[in-house]
Amino acid sequence: MRRFEADVLSQGPSFCVYGSPPPDLATVPAGAVQVSPLTPESAALEDIAPASLDGVVMAAPPGTVERRYALALALRALKPGAALTAMAPKDKGGSRLGKELKAFGCAVEETGRRHQRLCFAARPDEPQGLDAAIAAGAPQRVEALDGWSQPGVFSWDRPDPGSLLLIQALPPLSGRGADFGCGVGLIARAVLTHPAVTGLELIDIDRRAIEAAHRNINDPRARLHWADVRREPALEGLDFVVMNPPFHDGGAEDKALGQAFIRRAHQVLAKGGSLWIVANRHLPYEGVLNPLFATVELKAEAGGFKVYEARK
Ligand SMILES: C[S@@+](CC[C@H](N)C(=O)[O-])C[C@H]1O[C@@H](n2cnc3c(N)ncnc32)[C@H](O)[C@@H]1O
Repeated sequence: MRRFEADVLSQGPSFCVYGSPPPDLATVPAGAVQVSPLTPESAALEDIAPASLDGVVMAAPPGTVERRYALALALRALKPGAALTAMAPKDKGGSRLGKELKAFGCAVEETGRRHQRLCFAARPDEPQGLDAAIAAGAPQRVEALDGWSQPGVFSWDRPDPGSLLLIQALPPLSGRGADFGCGVGLIARAVLTHPAVTGLELIDIDRRAIEAAHRNINDPRARLHWADVRREPALEGLDFVVMNPPFHDGGAEDKALGQAFIRRAHQVLAKGGSLWIVANRHLPYEGVLNPLFATVELKAEAGGFKVYEARK
C-alpha cells in the first residue's frame, strides 16, 4: 500500500454529521461522515477516536437519554475547541439542548429558527459528565425484555403491547420467513420457538436494534440485516412475514411507511404465504391489505391494536 493511502485510512474522518440537519440551518462540509444509527452502513460515533474531529453537526435525537449519549459521544470525539452544532425541534428535545450542553461544560450560543432550537458549542478542554452520559445510553440488559436493548430503540425498556398481542395470536409457523422492523428481536424470538421454522430474516433500520437483536438471538436459523426494508435485502418466495410496522418516521406519524412495509411483504411472499401484522386500530392498513392479498382476516383485537393474517 502506498504511503498516503495508509495515512488516509489510519486518519479516520475529520468531520461527522449525525442524521439529516435541515440544509438551511447548518452547513455540512462535503466529505463529512454520517454517524446516525438510523442510516444503514454509516460509521458509528462510538468508534471515532477521542479528540480527533474538527467538527460535528447533529440533528439531535428525541429521547433524553439517547440525545445526551449522542452529544457526549460527539464531544468525546471532537478536538478541544472544535465546533459542535446541534439542533432539534423545540418539542422533541430542542428546548433542553442548550442546558444539556452547558451541563457538559460547553459555552453555548443558542438561537431558534422555524420550529428548531439551534445550539453552537465548542468542545471544552475538560468536558464534564461524558462517561456517565455514555454509560446511561449504552447497550444494556433490560429485565422487562429479558434481553439486551438500548435507549432510543423502539420501546427500549418494555415489551410493546402490540407486539405481545401479535405473539399471542401467531399459529405454529413453518418454513422461511422474515421479521420486518425486528427491533431488539421480541417477535423474532417467539417465532424461533416454532420448530418448523427453517429460517428467519431479521431486518431493522436501527443499528442499535440490530446489535441488541444479535445479542438476544442465538439461533443458526436467524440472519440479521441492518437495512431499510423497503429496499433490502433481496428476498423472495417466503412462507411468512411478521411485523409490527413503524408508525413514526422522523417524529411525524407516517402511514405511508407502514403501507410500504405491507407492499414489500406482499412482494417477498410466496403464493399462499402469510403476512402476520399488528397495528394500532386507527391506522388505515386494511385499505392496502385488501386489494393486495387473496384473503385478509382479523385474528385478534385488544388494547387498541388489531392483528391480521393476510394470505397472498
Ligand atoms: C413498531 S417498531 C417494532 C419493533 C419490534 N418488532 C418490536 O416488536 O418491538 C418498528 C421497527 O421498525 C424499524 N424501522 C423503521 N423504519 C424502517 C425501515 N425503513 N426499514 C427497516 N426497519 C425500519 C424501527 O427501527 C423499529 O424498530
